[in-house]
Order: sequence, then structure tokens, then C-alpha cells
Amino acid sequence: MATTPPAALPPTIAWIGDETGHLELLDQTRLPHEFVVLRLDSAEGVVDAIVRLAVRGAPAIGVAAAYGLLLGVRRLRPLPAAFVDATRTVAARLAAARPTAVNLQWALDRCLAAVRSQPTLAVLWQEARRIQAEEIASSRRMGEHGAALVRDGSTVLTHCNTGRLATAGDGTALAILFAAWKRGVRFSVLADETRPLLQGARLTALELAAAGIPVQVVVDGAAAGLIARGQVQLVLVGADRIALNGDTANKVGTYGLALACAAHQVPFHVVAPLSTFDLRCADGSKIPIEERDTREVLAVGGQALAANGVSARNPAFDVTPARLVTSFVTDAGILQPPFPAAIKNTFAQRR
Ligand code: MRU
Repeated sequence: MATTPPAALPPTIAWIGDETGHLELLDQTRLPHEFVVLRLDSAEGVVDAIVRLAVRGAPAIGVAAAYGLLLGVRRLRPLPAAFVDATRTVAARLAAARPTAVNLQWALDRCLAAVRSQPTLAVLWQEARRIQAEEIASSRRMGEHGAALVRDGSTVLTHCNTGRLATAGDGTALAILFAAWKRGVRFSVLADETRPLLQGARLTALELAAAGIPVQVVVDGAAAGLIARGQVQLVLVGADRIALNGDTANKVGTYGLALACAAHQVPFHVVAPLSTFDLRCADGSKIPIEERDTREVLAVGGQALAANGVSARNPAFDVTPARLVTSFVTDAGILQPPFPAAIKNTFAQRR
């Protein structure tokens, strides 16, 4: 039975207490029908939550992993002499949970750098809190930078979930929609359902409906036809990893949307914080693509879709070449082509 969305969703991620506290995650596998908050106090619990997508979205899993590292190292009391080595071992377990979203490794690298300079639990906790606070501020800035892209009366199409459930703050692509709506721009949204795990139908539609923004769910296969018929004026998506040349990994189906936008001159913007750019990755061919359990494709809600013995493929992401991207809306401003130079300059200015 369908549920009516509540006016306010519980927080996606919350740390309760000081460095001796625990992590709370809203279990996204149960949404939109049940609002279950997980209470976690081990790194294994956080790995499990990341693997089964109880917490998901590149920035959100970075924040969850940072707190997971603290939980894992804290269990090693009395703290071993080789504190930094022990931290590295727990970090490797967390990093392996999902390979494509670079924010996971990025957050763990930051925590490792912090404990190398001062090997204490308090430092790990402070770094995790700092990452969370920075991601909240990044979301706000992406919303502000991108809000002017949304025109009154337009229809915006989005893919997967890039909102409050995918980040520590308002989101990436959805942060733009929340910011534009708050400024009084009136538009409607088409949310790709996002097979196989339906983040668009289950999560994006929930978030937009809760904010009072008109949203209609469409099957992924409908998007290109609607774009071709002039029924979409803007496409906004998030990213899990952006290579140095601008090639972008995002939820499977994004590449097809970008191709349709290019064919029909519809702007296609990628919205992501700088923590999603991987400067060690020269181009999209080097981005690892997560292959997930094929049971996610072959069944929905425990109900088998295909005959017994049928096999499947389940790549969770695809790579959109930089040439198909209109712009990157980041927390540091909007990057225009040529992207390799724009990306290099943006990071050079931050040093
Ligand atoms: O598999 P998911 O649900 O973690 O995939 C999420 C996405 O693809 C998002 O678009 C991406 O993480 C950016 S969200 C802020």
C-alpha cells in the first residue's frame, strides 16, 4: 500500500554524542513506505549499510564511511601502538564496500591524513564532523550556483536520487531544484524511476513531494522519447566520480540521457561537489564500475521477473563522455568547457 510522504523526513545521517557516540542512518531500502532509523556502532555495520544501499549517494557514503572508520578503530581499545596502521586496515574494509563513488575513498583519505598528524580518536571524530559540515555547505553552494538554470514553467528531468537522501545536506542536482523553488521559480519535475533499485520512484519522488514540488515518475525508457518531443527543457544529474577530463560516472542510464539531450539540444548539467572529482583518474576508462548482484535485476520486492535459470547483468553505473556535458555545477561555481582546463584551474585555485 502506498504511503503519503511526511512533511519532514528524518535525517539521512546523524552522529549522536561525542566520539564515544553512535551513528544513525535512515534505512533507505525501506523507503518510501517505512521510516526506520538504523543505530550503528561498528565499522562492519556501516560496511553492510553501504553495500545494501541503506545509505547511498556518493557524498552520503563518504560521510558514513568517515564515521564508520571511527567506530571501527574505537573497537580496538586499548588502542594499538600502530594506531595509524590499524586505521588504514579498517579504512580499506570500508573503501571496498562500493568502488565507483570516489567520495568514499576521498573521505577516508582525509581521515587517514588527520590521524597521521595526530593519532587520536578525538581527531578522527572531528575530521568526520568536519567532512559532514563541509558537505552540508557544499550542497547549499551548488544549489545557489545552479538555481538560475531552472526557468519558470519548465520541465526538468532527473535520474536516480541526488537529494537530501544522497548527501549530508540538500543534495546535488536536487539542491538546485530546492533552491530555485525557494526563490519562487515554478517548474515541474520528471523523475526517472531508475531501474533496478528505483531510487527515482522511491526516493526522488518522495523528497520532491515532501517539498511540495510537482513530480511525475517516468520509466527510464520513456525519457529519450519525452526529450525528443520537446517535453523536457533541462536535465540535471549527479555524479559518483568525475575524471580529470570531465568524463563522468553516474547511475546506470545517465549516458543514454546525455545522448538523447545532445541529439535534441537539451542542456545536460552534471551537479557535484569537488569531492566527487578524481584528479588521479585521467579519463572515464579508468573509473571502476560496480557490478551488483544480478538478483536486483531479476526480481523486484522479492517477486521474480524472469523465468528460473535466466541470467542478467547489473552494472550500477555508466560513464558519460565529457563532450556530452553542458556544464558542471560545483560547490566552487559552474565549470564550462573545455573541461580539462576548467577542472585543473578550479583545483589550482584551491591550493
Ligand atoms: O547507487 P546509488 O543510489 O548510490 O547511486 C547514486 C547516484 O548515482 C547519484 O546520482 C550520485 O551518487 C550523486 S548523488 C549526490
